[in-house]
Amino acid sequence: MGFLSVLTMAQRLVSERLAPGATVVDATAGGGVDTLFLARAVGPGGRVYAFDVQEAALARTKKRLLEAAPSAAPGVGGAARALGEVVLLHAGHEEMAARVPLEAHGRVGAIMFNLGYLPGGPETAEGAGPIITKPDTTLAALDAALRLLAPGGIATIAVYPGHEGGQDEAAAVDDWIAALPEDAVQALLYRFPKRTGSPYLYALEKK
Ligand SMILES: C[S@@+](CC[C@H](N)C(=O)[O-])C[C@H]1O[C@@H](n2cnc3c(N)ncnc32)[C@H](O)[C@@H]1O
Repeated sequence: MGFLSVLTMAQRLVSERLAPGATVVDATAGGGVDTLFLARAVGPGGRVYAFDVQEAALARTKKRLLEAAPSAAPGVGGAARALGEVVLLHAGHEEMAARVPLEAHGRVGAIMFNLGYLPGGPETAEGAGPIITKPDTTLAALDAALRLLAPGGIATIAVYPGHEGGQDEAAAVDDWIAALPEDAVQALLYRFPKRTGSPYLYALEKK
């Protein structure tokens, strides 16, 4: 049967904690799998802020949302919508504190990070491979995420050490987690130690 994948485990941990109507963040919208999951989990009355630096990723996310609920175009409200409201932000997640309205700070129920790169996404302008998440901006976003979360809120961070640049980012995230004060968060690590270079998951519950 096997154990749950890292991404399924992230969704499981979030869904166990989310209440309908919550405000949540997808820090890396990509193809929109987590954005759609979050929009369903919070339901009508809830709101998802979804960040990505790639327009192509946001377009994929929008398409996925429209296919799932044709009346749920991002930015559109109303009782007829099956999903929570989704606000697509063409911005880096390091801008999270500035982009998520002040009234939601300290009240966000869940923040999901799926680091690395978007499979099948466009290459960087320099032709230097895909657009990947980077240590500096990831750590800035993680700091902001902890400030935005409500007490009892959850952050999930899927970490990918297997691609070029991924090892540096994974080490930076590992160090950041190790330095977190124990009285501020409870931290969980979900990992397949026999699969070298495979993704792993951190989950943080804010105290
Ligand atoms: C692994 S993919 C996300 C997959 C997505 N969660 C899904 O369900 O399809 C990582 C995404 O992070 C995005 N990204 C890279 N740097 C970013 C940043 N600073 N802020 C927000 N998104 C970023 C990439 O463009 C890419 O789409």
